Amino acid sequence: MIYHRLADYYDQLMDFDYEAFLAVWQSLTDFEGQDIFEYGCGTGNMTARLLPLVRSIDAADASPDMLMLARQKIQSPKLRFFLVDEDFSIAKTYDKICLFVDVVNYLPPSQFKHLLERWEHNLHPGGEILFDVSSEDKLSRVLGDQIYRYDIPEGEIYWINDYDETTKRLDFSLVIYLEQADETFLREEEYHTQYVYTADDIERLAKNYDITARLTPERDYYSLRKKK
Ligand SMILES: C[S@@+](CC[C@H](N)C(=O)[O-])C[C@H]1O[C@@H](n2cnc3c(N)ncnc32)[C@H](O)[C@@H]1O
Repeated sequence: MIYHRLADYYDQLMDFDYEAFLAVWQSLTDFEGQDIFEYGCGTGNMTARLLPLVRSIDAADASPDMLMLARQKIQSPKLRFFLVDEDFSIAKTYDKICLFVDVVNYLPPSQFKHLLERWEHNLHPGGEILFDVSSEDKLSRVLGDQIYRYDIPEGEIYWINDYDETTKRLDFSLVIYLEQADETFLREEEYHTQYVYTADDIERLAKNYDITARLTPERDYYSLRKKK
């Protein structure tokens, strides 16, 4: 399970400007008064920022630990949380389906394709799917085979990356050392995989959508609108 033990440290480790990220999306689209499905809401950092703008949010994640933190952070009659697994399906229709901050990088291409096919039926006319991906350059070269180390009050965390050029997969492990009362360390580890999605990959997977993209060196932003 990913984002299990790591969930408790996600907000501390996340060196990410959510305000600037929201501003990019607001320059590309309008959230005012809309019904949103947010897939991969994590600890709710975007959920909380979108909530004042929109009519409703249904926020989903596969990690019970991340969802629990989101639930503790934000409560509103406009907001519902869902724990999802591979078989989940949504019954409602929405103005926007959003996958923010690397969520798509976590989805194997076959799963993302399947979701895009299903979600055609969950969008209002004119509705769109919004998502961002870490760029190929970021996954392959910037993160590549790097190791990062972080201090946390309870100990330290190592983030160990391993990029495979052939499969265009970034496998990484997060090793958490938690100092115990007897001065030994408890070691916990979780393994993540992220997939590269180039603009060509998105075009191939999202054939039934009109695609608008803003590509930047580090992060690519996409809006998919169902073709009429
Ligand atoms: C990098 S975090 C982003 C969280 C949040 N969107 C944010 O802006 O901080 C990726 C999130 O995607 C979730 N996730 C990964 N694979 C998933 C899947 N197959 N279905 C649903 N959620 C998934 C993880 O549990 C995690 O909460």
